[in-house]
Amino acid sequence: MIDFYSDTQTRPTRAMRESILDIETGDERHDEDPKTLELCERVAGLFGMEKAVFLPSGTMCNEIAIAVHCKPGDEVICTRESHIIFAESGGPAALSGVMMHPIDGDRGMLTPEQLSAAIRPRSSHAPRSRLLVCEQTANLAGGAIWPAEQLQAVSETAKTAGLATHLDGARILNAQVATGTPATTYASGFDSAWIAFTKGLGCPVGAVLAGSREFIEEAWLFKRRWGGAMRQTGVLTAMCLYALDHNVDRLADDHALARKIGTRLERMKGVADVLPVETNIVIFDLSPKLPEARDVASSLRARGITVTVVGKRRIRIVTHMGVGSAEAEILISALEELAG
Ligand SMILES: Cc1ncc(COP(=O)(O)O)c(C=O)c1O
Repeated sequence: MIDFYSDTQTRPTRAMRESILDIETGDERHDEDPKTLELCERVAGLFGMEKAVFLPSGTMCNEIAIAVHCKPGDEVICTRESHIIFAESGGPAALSGVMMHPIDGDRGMLTPEQLSAAIRPRSSHAPRSRLLVCEQTANLAGGAIWPAEQLQAVSETAKTAGLATHLDGARILNAQVATGTPATTYASGFDSAWIAFTKGLGCPVGAVLAGSREFIEEAWLFKRRWGGAMRQTGVLTAMCLYALDHNVDRLADDHALARKIGTRLERMKGVADVLPVETNIVIFDLSPKLPEARDVASSLRARGITVTVVGKRRIRIVTHMGVGSAEAEILISALEELAG
């Protein structure tokens, strides 16, 4: 299959696999695994935060952050299309007993005014507005990049009102590579932030959550409680270190390929709209004259190509190190046949 379904479909390369052969390992839950300690220190530095913890998945980073920042009955403010709402199996409610307060943002982003309007005045009748969560890049908004000033402005609004702030930075390095703005700047108004290693960076497992010393101490409590404490994680974290050294700059290639696909889609008569392409995600809407997105996705699948259906007429294409120009041409030809 040619996989434009997600950047999670990357496979570890031979060089990445070889990077674990000669490493020393130890027990991560006793802070004895050298590669894991090194990775956590590097990611904490990348965000300008004090400490970090290695976790099996991005979902666990988000869910632990919510659990640490909130008490049951608190309210989490985020945009309606946030991963914590649409793809974490109701985790915030099930694990932390919080309420979600979704806001209709613009391309996955809020303004300080929208946030101010959403924060509830303190009252014993109302839930306590407690946490702001932002996503950099905004996945379902087509990998849109929050401008650093806007992230700063919303985090300041949140802080002034007494809320904690969490940044879902699954693809923050895509934003860093696309704009040249460092992750440290994007994360500067946030109490916690994380990056994924299983997406554009090409690793098989892993995400790292960063925050203050006290935050990470609390995060460890949930990591153990929820079964995320592991042992010789060096075999995973050495690959993450390899990815930080070798796979960050190349994200620019994924962005160029996504732009190329977006430009070609814009010319197709059967495509009603293409969201601006800023990173490695292309989201487009089919015109009402065409079959629905799931039928178009099935036709693509029959031609050996996978994409994601993200709405009745909406399809998502994601570029990553497992696809290149040749695969993009096959995808474009197939789409031209179906929607040209
Ligand atoms: C924006 C965003 N947040 C969180 C996640 C969850 O990451 P994981 O699949 O590692 O649980 C994803 C996964 O695609 C994502 O796109």
